[in-house]
Amino acid sequence: MPRHFLTLADLSAAEIETLIARAMHLKQAFQRRQLQQTCAGRVLALIFEKSSTRTRVSFETAMAHLGGHSVFLSPRDSQLGRGEPIEDTARVLSKMVDAVMIRTFEHERITRFAEHASVPVINGLSDSYHPCQLLADLQTYYELKGPIKGKKVAWFGDGNNMCNSWINAARIMDFHLHVAGPVACHPSADMVRQGGANLSLGEDPLAAAAASDLIVTDTWYSMRQEAEAEDKQDLFRPFQVNERLMTSAAPDAIFMHCLPAYRGAEVSAEVIDGSRSVVWEEAGNRLHAQKALLEFLLEGMG
Ligand code: CP
Ligand code: NVA
Repeated sequence: MPRHFLTLADLSAAEIETLIARAMHLKQAFQRRQLQQTCAGRVLALIFEKSSTRTRVSFETAMAHLGGHSVFLSPRDSQLGRGEPIEDTARVLSKMVDAVMIRTFEHERITRFAEHASVPVINGLSDSYHPCQLLADLQTYYELKGPIKGKKVAWFGDGNNMCNSWINAARIMDFHLHVAGPVACHPSADMVRQGGANLSLGEDPLAAAAASDLIVTDTWYSMRQEAEAEDKQDLFRPFQVNERLMTSAAPDAIFMHCLPAYRGAEVSAEVIDGSRSVVWEEAGNRLHAQKALLEFLLEGMG
């Protein structure tokens, strides 16, 4: 059975810390233009059933830097869009490529794909999780502030795929995550159970931000939820990350957002473009964290 990366829970805390250390090393090497072809001759298939900028470019660039190749597939120009079963696609791609990344809708579509694949499968975002983003986010935290164990992270807004992956991270890396959002958009009961003592939920944004080391948010409307945009504006508005909210956080607190961001909605322009925002470093780290992940899954490094 190959090793898959479907949620952050597929890795232990020690493995995540090893990947972060390797990602930091690869970042420094990249800045010196010293690229190591550790995945020479390997091919990664990239299936995108939803849009992407960062995930596509970071995986394609990572494979190019590591000496391998990538193949981009979308439903529009592959047989997936004409109803070929995901199980058959998994079996066929496993005969040709060394790993497959999928971005899709129901998380169950990725688990079904992985069950029928004989090569590593990477979740490039599902309706339920976005684990690749968490690798980059944790790398960013470690680089700027050191280990995250015992720290307080506050999440604002929707209990979405990113929020779920932060819940996984809190559990694995043993920090406290406070989720503040409208009750109707809180994480599911199952995610709350998974978060255990590392998770608390609330509806008071200033209480959530109080003494937090890291403030995180994401769009109020994830891909496929666009039709709900108008209805939920008023519910979400009190949870906007703005200067008032940042003032309640620890004096050295930083701000993260996986992007794309909507200024004036989930975050004010002054916060995302301000001195406590680390979103550009965070986005850039997708490249380095995923290189470390690819080496780990394809070459057993780490
Ligand atoms: N953060 C992120 O995954 O961005 P993309 O949707 O552009 O890939
Ligand atoms: N929650 C967002 C993340 C985008 C990277 C979405 O699923 O659209």
